[in-house]
Amino acid sequence: MELRRIAVLISGTGTNLQALMDATRSGRVPARIVLVLSDRAQARGLERAARAGLPTAVISPKAFESRQAFDQALDDRLRAAGAELVCLAGFMRVLGRELVEAWAGRMLNIHPSLLPAFPGLEVHERVLEAGMPVSGCTVHFVTPEVDAGPVIVQGIAPVLPGDTPERLQARVLEVEHRAYPRALDLVVRGRVRIEDERVVVRDERPGERLVLHPLLARWMEP
Ligand code: GRF
Repeated sequence: MELRRIAVLISGTGTNLQALMDATRSGRVPARIVLVLSDRAQARGLERAARAGLPTAVISPKAFESRQAFDQALDDRLRAAGAELVCLAGFMRVLGRELVEAWAGRMLNIHPSLLPAFPGLEVHERVLEAGMPVSGCTVHFVTPEVDAGPVIVQGIAPVLPGDTPERLQARVLEVEHRAYPRALDLVVRGRVRIEDERVVVRDERPGERLVLHPLLARWMEP
């Protein structure tokens, strides 16, 4: 199978990037990361990429007069790398409509809640304040409205007694690292299409779009 060319956009630690690197390197997901791009030179994820010998780039918004000019530079870089798909993985900038529409159906994002619940920032704080017994993550296609595109895969993690935002975040991250490769796999194998703003998966097996945190999986065993 031909390997699809992926660009990963990051701003921070890059643990999701790591999960995607591991899944593509091992051949579990038939894709190749051709560029890791950050808007921040200090992003720790850049070191992970460089250690793995992947091409990296930094495009800082500070170097541009407008968001449009920044978006254009980003788009140019993605195309120069021959990227076919873009994975936002903790990329902390909102992209403009034009760029998002140019990559419609080819740009994925991961968000640390069960969308459409809890879009935006400070997710884990709000989940705890709301007294939710479960949380999780969502991998979705990017649309101009933030955290609102068609859902590809969701991961579910329990909220546990005594949780702090930090503890919950760590537990949700574990499930993110399973959900993102799963979603990317469905997309690169050409099994996903968008119909009426929803994801439809060809030959979908029950539960294929759902990833459970290991604790939940264990509790659910007969
Ligand atoms: C993740 O929680 C992701 O859902 C959110 O930003 C965080 C990035 O973490 N969009 P990492 O850089 O992948 O470790």
